Amino acid sequence: MEEKKRGSFSGSLGFVLAAAGSAVGLGNLWRFPYLAARNGGGLFLVIYIILALTFGFAMLTTEIGIGRKTRQSPLTAFAKLNQKFKFAGVLACLIPFMILPYYCAIGGWVIKYFIAFVTGQGVKAAQDGYFGGFITAEAEPIIMMIIFFAITAVIVFAGVDKGIESFSKIVMPALLVIVIGISIYCLTLHSDASGEARTGLQGLAVYIIPNFDGLTLQKFLSVTMDAMGQLFFSLSVAMGIMIAYGSYVGDDANLSKSINQIEICDTGVAFLAGVMIIPAVFAFMGPAGLEASGPSLMFVSLPKVFQSMGMIGNFIGALFFAMVLFAALTSSVSLMEAVVASFMDQFNWERKRASIFEGICCFVIAVIVCLGYNKLYFEFTLPNGAVAQILDILDYLSNNLFMPIIAIAECILVGWVLGPSSIEEEIEKGGVKMGRKGLYEIMVKFVAPILLFVLFLRAAGVLTAI
Ligand code: ALA
Repeated sequence: MEEKKRGSFSGSLGFVLAAAGSAVGLGNLWRFPYLAARNGGGLFLVIYIILALTFGFAMLTTEIGIGRKTRQSPLTAFAKLNQKFKFAGVLACLIPFMILPYYCAIGGWVIKYFIAFVTGQGVKAAQDGYFGGFITAEAEPIIMMIIFFAITAVIVFAGVDKGIESFSKIVMPALLVIVIGISIYCLTLHSDASGEARTGLQGLAVYIIPNFDGLTLQKFLSVTMDAMGQLFFSLSVAMGIMIAYGSYVGDDANLSKSINQIEICDTGVAFLAGVMIIPAVFAFMGPAGLEASGPSLMFVSLPKVFQSMGMIGNFIGALFFAMVLFAALTSSVSLMEAVVASFMDQFNWERKRASIFEGICCFVIAVIVCLGYNKLYFEFTLPNGAVAQILDILDYLSNNLFMPIIAIAECILVGWVLGPSSIEEEIEKGGVKMGRKGLYEIMVKFVAPILLFVLFLRAAGVLTAI
């Protein structure tokens, strides 16, 4: 009875597509390429892939295992396993609650660019000051955010199988086709727009060949920590999402195989996002374009690249932002679902009531986030030295402080209190063979908590050397 009310995925495919849809999002398409460009391309890539196969695998397995084992939402799952870990449940619900509003604000930016390219205004979107002018406007960012948020809310409201699963089944295959198509196209690019003839393939070399020149231990650790922080966000771990989605998977699903597929999809799309963006920026703007890259890579540099492509630029730009929009929607849906599921389980609410309540909260905070670039503008210096606005503060608190705390709590709970076998048994239910079992145990007991603790100290501004 209770399980029916909470909904479930119709099978492994629905689960994998929904979970991969959650994982593949702005993190892969927006954050990963600029972090890779900033951290020397190849080196970041190698470290990221190693971490994904070890640390990411351990965290994903733990959360999906906790979800299916308890059949509870993030807010209630931890207390079911051990009352002393109830606080971890509260944090696991608070994190998606904090991320969703600013995710919707950025989703609104994506809609704005999508509309610009679809309506043939790519040249305008490439002009200096276009992005700044848009996000500091009073009404437009809020309107765009509302459109993005409304789509998210309608899907979550429709439920696990009819809403989330059905949407993911349509959008994810389309997204993968577009990602692969644009990646191939970007490798064929060549331009002399930066004053020297350059090709996409040269840009690919910059992206994938590690450059060890001037590499110090400090730099290596710093890149490792950046890659780890990114991995959290990208895999949707430590945000309660994978616990919620895990709780909707049937006992007959092969979790070991599903986890591998989610990892491959998420890491593959992050890698291809780099293949799409880095060679294109390199060909049209040269190494200086890459060096100057930061969060504005997608909204400032790329429109300039699309514009330089000539006639086809509007089409490629529209396709690109459609893809980003699909990816962002499947992720925002999962963020909202993690909170809605928590309210449903904790307060025994119907989906309708939980969705409306979370919808109102998110809407109010998202409006405040949008106004953070306009009426509510202020500058705040974070412990790590970065100057932040409201969006950055929410991002910092959730990603840098709360997510490592909840991940450490998960490692202690599973690694030391319950024992790794508690999750391994869940994964191996129905005779499934769990791969990388020894690795899982070492990661969850020793390596992950230590790395997480270092990440936390660095974010809190205690560890300043890296
Ligand atoms: N995993 C999601 C992303 O990468 C939240 O955007």
